Amino acid sequence: MRVGIAPFALLPALALSACTTDEGPIAASELGRRLFSDSGFSDSDFNSFSCATCHSTEPGDPAVRPGYSLANVAFRESLWGGFEPRLIDAVSFCNVFFMRGDEIDPADEKGRALYEYLVAISPERPSPGLPLTVIANITSVPPGDAARGEEVWNQGCRGCHGEPHTGKGRLTDRVEIVPEASEEYSEEIGVSVDLIVVEKVRHGQFFGVGGIMPPFPLEALSDEDLGALLAYLGV
Ligand code: HEC
Ligand code: HEC
Repeated sequence: MRVGIAPFALLPALALSACTTDEGPIAASELGRRLFSDSGFSDSDFNSFSCATCHSTEPGDPAVRPGYSLANVAFRESLWGGFEPRLIDAVSFCNVFFMRGDEIDPADEKGRALYEYLVAISPERPSPGLPLTVIANITSVPPGDAARGEEVWNQGCRGCHGEPHTGKGRLTDRVEIVPEASEEYSEEIGVSVDLIVVEKVRHGQFFGVGGIMPPFPLEALSDEDLGALLAYLGV
């Protein structure tokens, strides 16, 4: 039963304490629930993402999202496909690489509150680790059904990118207008547009250069749905 309980749990005595806010004291897990959809969880001025940008909290949510639903995450036996065994490190990874913040400090009030919330949505103890397949070698995929592609865009991409071609409604202007930005880049580097889109979606980073877009592992987005996206974007 030790497995997976690792991280913030070093502070059991504080775990159920209340936090003081403008509204007076509220339970730590309630503060954590609010922080889950608050980009202010990260201390970076350049961050626009919250945990909810990439993760649902509904068990078995079928919508396309880069990260898994965090229902039952607190006692999952492995995380990030086994790359990050401890919950605190799994959350730090997202906060550092996507949200430009710092490693989670177990003594920090916000980190503790978030931990309490994740525990509160984790009735299954322990719960099995989930697979994570990052596609290593990028090859194009056959174009699929554009109508399905629109659904995939709406669930998995629109929250950050807004509308294709215009970027209308995008989360921040640090998010590129797709596919036009890739068409320009394609001309610059002589790689076809579809391959640029596949590379970005599968690896997040850009031909190894960097960036803050999350990768979509195979479990988050099938090749068939990726092909549908290519058809919808017309690349
Ligand atoms: C920009 C997108 C993004 C943001 C923002 C983000 N994550 Fe993630 N997260 C991912 C991806 C992608 C993975 C890898 C797939 C997976 O394991 O869920 C991941 C993995 C995880 C995992 C491991 C889950 C598992 O079972 O493997 C945890 C825990 C986690 N994130 C928590 C958080 C928390 C808490 C926040 C907010 C502080 C957050 N993430 C913000 C994209 C994101
Ligand atoms: C959590 C926010 C987020 C989500 C979700 C997201 N993107 Fe992105 N995307 C970005 C950001 C930010 C950039 C700018 C480069 C960077 O920082 O990685 C970007 C860049 C791109 C680019 C590169 C544009 C260029 O310069 O050639 C493509 C292509 C792309 N996204 C496609 C997608 C598709 C398709 C989806 C859905 C499957 C998606 N993105 C989901 C945030 C996101």
